Amino acid sequence: MYKVLRKILFLFDAEQIHEFSTISIKILNKIPYLKNILSKFYRVENKILERKILGLKFKNPIGLAAGFDKNAELYNDFSIFGFGFIEIGTVTPLPQPGNPKKRIFRLVEDKSLINRLGFNNKGLDVVSKNLKNKGNLIVGANIGKNFFTENNEGIDDYLKCLSVLHNDVDYFAINISSPNTKNLRDFHNQELLKPLLEKLINYNQKQKKYKPLLLKISPDIDEDQLNQIINLTTELGLDGIIATNTTISRISLKSNNKNEKGGLSGEPLKERSNEVIRLLRKKLGPNFPIIGVGGVMTPEDAIEKIKSGADLIQLYTGFVYEGPNIVKRINKALISQNN
Ligand SMILES: Cc1cc2nc3c(=O)[nH]c(=O)nc-3n(C[C@H](O)[C@H](O)[C@H](O)COP(=O)(O)O)c2cc1C
Repeated sequence: MYKVLRKILFLFDAEQIHEFSTISIKILNKIPYLKNILSKFYRVENKILERKILGLKFKNPIGLAAGFDKNAELYNDFSIFGFGFIEIGTVTPLPQPGNPKKRIFRLVEDKSLINRLGFNNKGLDVVSKNLKNKGNLIVGANIGKNFFTENNEGIDDYLKCLSVLHNDVDYFAINISSPNTKNLRDFHNQELLKPLLEKLINYNQKQKKYKPLLLKISPDIDEDQLNQIINLTTELGLDGIIATNTTISRISLKSNNKNEKGGLSGEPLKERSNEVIRLLRKKLGPNFPIIGVGGVMTPEDAIEKIKSGADLIQLYTGFVYEGPNIVKRINKALISQNN
């Protein structure tokens, strides 16, 4: 059914459809009868799916990746689709409009998207207010810096986000890997990353309730940078890594939109993202928490990511191409794999 709906949705601009879907899902959730039917249809509950990691108990390992619910307006409504957790953001201290539109492009032949949104969001105060409705669903906050903040002052932006949202969410994703904020990815270098992590970890340790801090990394770093990150992770006691964000590389794409600037997600990102996860798992050992994201379009992709070393999985582009049923299909596949 979603394939037919997708044909219609894909006739319109991607960002407009995102806004339209958001409103539709909100309306659906306001009709208790429909909400009940949908959540019964999509939710898969089984002990096999449960994960205890990062000091949290996940009902299943499938999460909605950052970027879909930038302002924490949707996380409760989206829980009807059976996600085990949802990451909101990226949120920056001050509201910002992001890059000029048009800034999301579909590459249908490649089952992917290119986006250059540039952290459009309503800012920390609005997001914090929206998070006051949080119930039992695990919600992470993906935090970043404003586009006009120079890198040497960027650490304060991250710290502001961490401190304001500290009581509102279950974990934090420190986003240093969006390709659409100038120089942001320089934070992969030790000289910037070390003071950033030290400051955030130090703040976190002083709070009454400790919140796991995960670093969201780019697939475009070389092995030296990855090794530096691994060393820092161990040295400073970072809680986990999310691998990976979108890529700026463009390898063997067919679609007309392939030369649009921005971060590429979906199918073409899968292999590189899995490669990074495999390296992380190999070097950080069996118990280090890794969230795998990038190119999960089918249940088989999810299983491959887990085999590569991911404890939990997130998706974004797969949700756009396959519809909400993808979460149920993955969870069912994980159950039958274990039976
Ligand atoms: C339209 C769009 C917006 C995104 N916005 C963010 C964001 O704000 N912060 C972030 O960390 N990642 C963002 N991402 C990256 C996703 O969270 C994810 O890491 C990436 O898309 C790879 O997963 P996928 O192949 O399942 O889409 C965005 C991705 C897309 C497609």
